[in-house]
Amino acid sequence: MMIPRYLVSFDTGQIPNLFCDVLVIGSGVAGLSTAHSLSHFCDAMLVTKAGLKDSNTNHAQGGIAAVLDEHDSFESHIRDTLLAGAGLSDPVATQVLVTEGPSRVVELLRDYHAKFDMRDEHFDFAREGGHSCSRVVHARGDATGSEVETALSRAVIDENKVKIIEGAFAVDLLMDGKVARGCLVFDSKGKLIAIWSKFVILASGGTGMIYLVTTNPRVSTGDGLAVAFRAGARISDVEFVQFHPTALHIPEEPKFLISEALRGRGAFIVDVEGNRIMEGIHPLLDLAPRDVVASRMFEVMKEERKNHLYLETRHIDPILLRKEFPTIFQHCLEAGIDIRKMRIPVSPAAHYMSGGVVVDLDGQTDIPGLFACGEVSCTGVHGANRLASNSLLEGLVFSKRIAEYLENHVKDFTTSRYPRISFELDWRKPRFKLGLLRGNLREVMTDSVGMMRCEKGLKEAFEFFERNEEILQTEFMSVPGMELKNMFEVGMMVAMASYLRKETRGCHRRRDYPDVDDWNWKKHIDLKLEDGEICHEGRLTHHPGIDEVELKFVKGFAYGRD
Ligand code: SIN
Repeated sequence: MMIPRYLVSFDTGQIPNLFCDVLVIGSGVAGLSTAHSLSHFCDAMLVTKAGLKDSNTNHAQGGIAAVLDEHDSFESHIRDTLLAGAGLSDPVATQVLVTEGPSRVVELLRDYHAKFDMRDEHFDFAREGGHSCSRVVHARGDATGSEVETALSRAVIDENKVKIIEGAFAVDLLMDGKVARGCLVFDSKGKLIAIWSKFVILASGGTGMIYLVTTNPRVSTGDGLAVAFRAGARISDVEFVQFHPTALHIPEEPKFLISEALRGRGAFIVDVEGNRIMEGIHPLLDLAPRDVVASRMFEVMKEERKNHLYLETRHIDPILLRKEFPTIFQHCLEAGIDIRKMRIPVSPAAHYMSGGVVVDLDGQTDIPGLFACGEVSCTGVHGANRLASNSLLEGLVFSKRIAEYLENHVKDFTTSRYPRISFELDWRKPRFKLGLLRGNLREVMTDSVGMMRCEKGLKEAFEFFERNEEILQTEFMSVPGMELKNMFEVGMMVAMASYLRKETRGCHRRRDYPDVDDWNWKKHIDLKLEDGEICHEGRLTHHPGIDEVELKFVKGFAYGRD
């Protein structure tokens, strides 16, 4: 299957050209905090495909995990992160995350005036799955993401130093030879623009929309991952799609999240008869890592032929429920569920892409000039399964590192000459109904590449991709069309990595290979596009940096032959 280098035909000599020092793509915690830090020493521009606040960050409930309590320790947070990561987390990146995290949270409070929930002038800590103590800082009860997004966007808007373009869809990277020098953008008026820069930062978020049931907002269509992939960046660990155990099980899209912090306050998951499902499964019971809880739920749902279970909250102090979980309380009430009196119907939903574009400790990808940060990146900290509330933390820690790196490098770059680039897609007439194909793709991903996988299902997914490969050659001058092509490519990557990993680890679960196989699979699966073909490689976990790895990608992918 050939994947064209660009989504659309264009000629940068025929379209408007804009210039800046650093271009940031995305407006969640990673994009906003990078852009804000950059604006103190260079000319930063931020493009985002919808409004500034349309991001996954804005929906995050639980909070930010950080060692800020005297009874807690870095060792404990590192250990919990590595344990959740099931043998694939990078210990050096994890150490950076955990040790630099507390200062980033304090900066949010002190410099950005984020209002975290406090108790006696100290942070009020919540507990979430996989954490051995209460260390999750939160805001407005269960609206942490919204508080963080508001604080960061307020700083960016008030200081007015970052040029922001909303409704600007990042189509593809523009390269000068092998170096990233900007991005082709499709603006809100339906016009292509070339934005040239010395450096590009991808902070475009996750991929949840490739599944039918997801907690992610509609914008999470994996665009940044696909953009980096088409440009030839190394992508890793994409088989590790995390399913959050407790999304509200009512017909709405996206699914409303019922934060794990509620289980941290004593809520537990029960079947229809009221039996606790986590007893005897894991010592942390309902606060076991997400992969453990979600797969247990899946097992029980299958045994009992149900499509959901329940979260029991009725034993919790009703005043506390309303005070500490105002967003959940209100949303459930509006859906006819008074959580003081009724159990909450819940089922697992696609929540987080643990893998992404491989970066080093300064956020640099293997494409010179290209950095990545937040969910689109793979710093290595999440390994095979992200620990709860480590994602906002990762965005904060690594965005700061990127800004610090660029502060020392942006002035070295002096050229103002950028190449003229043109591309003609070998164009096919669209024969697809976008909405139908999108729905079909999401259904195939859910059925065959969802929480439980097996060779037969994965082959069905590949057959779907092959039957519809023409989409890759179809030119759509619309955001839904471009999103669909990105979702198609991301879906192929997830399916391919899931097929190759013949074991069960973290949030990748294979029915036909139910055990962890450290001997063969304690390694990362890297994917790369070369001459339009997907190539893959197994990279041992002990390699500490990108440069030291000798890449021997296997060209092409045959799912019947390996
Ligand atoms: C939650 O509040 O349960 C989600 C937090 C996270 O995804 O880390």
